[in-house]
Amino acid sequence: MGAGMTDAGEITVKGLDDEPTTGPSESEVEIPQAIGRYHILSLIGVGGMGRVYKGFDDVIERVVAIKTLHHQQPENDGDVDPLESFKFEAKALGRIYHPGIVNIYEYGTDGDDDFIALEYVEGSPVSYDASTPQFVRIQTILKFLDALDYAHQCGVVHRDLKPTNVLVTNLGEVKITDFGISVIEGALRDGDNKFFGTPQYMAPEQIRTKTVNVQTDVFSAGALAYFLLSGERPFDAATPREIVARVLNEEPTPLTGLSSDITDDLDAVIRCALAKNPAERYQSAADFARALEALNIERPARRGDKDQLQSRTFRDGEVIFEEGDAGGEAYIVDQGSVDIVKLADGQSFVIGTIGLKGMFGEMSLLDGVPRMASAVARGDVHLSVIKVEDLFDTLDGADHVLNSMLAALVSNLRTASDRLVYERSKNRFGNKN
Ligand SMILES: Nc1ncnc2c1ncn2[C@@H]1O[C@H](COP(=O)(O)OP(=O)(O)O)[C@@H](O)[C@H]1O
Ligand SMILES: [Mg+2]
Repeated sequence: MGAGMTDAGEITVKGLDDEPTTGPSESEVEIPQAIGRYHILSLIGVGGMGRVYKGFDDVIERVVAIKTLHHQQPENDGDVDPLESFKFEAKALGRIYHPGIVNIYEYGTDGDDDFIALEYVEGSPVSYDASTPQFVRIQTILKFLDALDYAHQCGVVHRDLKPTNVLVTNLGEVKITDFGISVIEGALRDGDNKFFGTPQYMAPEQIRTKTVNVQTDVFSAGALAYFLLSGERPFDAATPREIVARVLNEEPTPLTGLSSDITDDLDAVIRCALAKNPAERYQSAADFARALEALNIERPARRGDKDQLQSRTFRDGEVIFEEGDAGGEAYIVDQGSVDIVKLADGQSFVIGTIGLKGMFGEMSLLDGVPRMASAVARGDVHLSVIKVEDLFDTLDGADHVLNSMLAALVSNLRTASDRLVYERSKNRFGNKN
């Protein structure tokens, strides 16, 4: 992850790609039995300065991640003291307690290693998946920005935001990791005047003048969002020199040209985060998030969503269906109320009234038996219509339909059993009398 810039402006960059630095494969590396009081389960990653293991805390009985730093660094480019850097990471994490940032449990030393015990994240680095709905991607970006903004509020600038340092759990939660080259407000560290980070995700002023601040993280966040939305890096090229040239001088390809589901507005939001001039960028991760939220990118409506259901209106007294009609549809009351009416001895009796959000007609919908009562509008009535052929599509993803239907069924069952009890007791008392 180290990089150096000579006085002549020559840039050399190590660990340029996003993949974890390649080291010996798991089978070649000797895995210790334990580090500190943690029982080691497996090797997760081999980084530039140490390894990351999956471990187990036998006392608390939980899985942990152990990030280690070997005291004898095989190669040290002299840019930075690795031990100081490692302790800085622990300090930065110690300042931040947020569900979107990996939590630190302990800093320790074991033989030739220093280690940090971290919350173990069951998941993988954030990646582009063409099948992920845009809404989900936006949610991931928003969760990431929320965590980043919190770190900034704690006075910590990450400085190396890129896909491998942002993990996504199996439940879709975001966890920012690797504060190894972060900067803490007011705390200078060895190497702060050095050039760190990954140029693909690095702000122009970070490359040019080694500036590191909230705005440089916002730029990296923009590059990460660009990647998440399109699968492409905004400033990609074959060599570090070309990448740097692109970051400094070129505009990224508009996202609208890379993915058909990206609107001009969304493209404009991401581009603002990627503005070359920091003054034109969002001034905070929260501002970036607000701009994204203002686009109102929501979960696409499924057939069962309310506004996807057909609606029908009836005037006061109008018959919605009659006893004996074929079923096949159920209804949810969106406005007004509906009387359920039964004919007996030439007279009609209102046996129930369905109010707002209530469902009726569901019995014939479910068992296909003709209507056992009539339904009559009371006042002006608006209904959502659920057709039998759409029933399962409708239920899928439409909680309000399912809720109304279950409520109607439960209420019918309760009424039926109350009636039963009433009839039985009436008969019993009737017999006695
Ligand atoms: N807390 C964690 N839980 C699970 N995996 C982790 C955790 N921290 C790091 N990793 C894995 O190890 C890799 C390297 O960790 P990182 O902190 O980024 O170290 P490096 O400084 O070597 O890049 C990450 O990309 C991730 O795959
Ligand atoms: Mg990393």
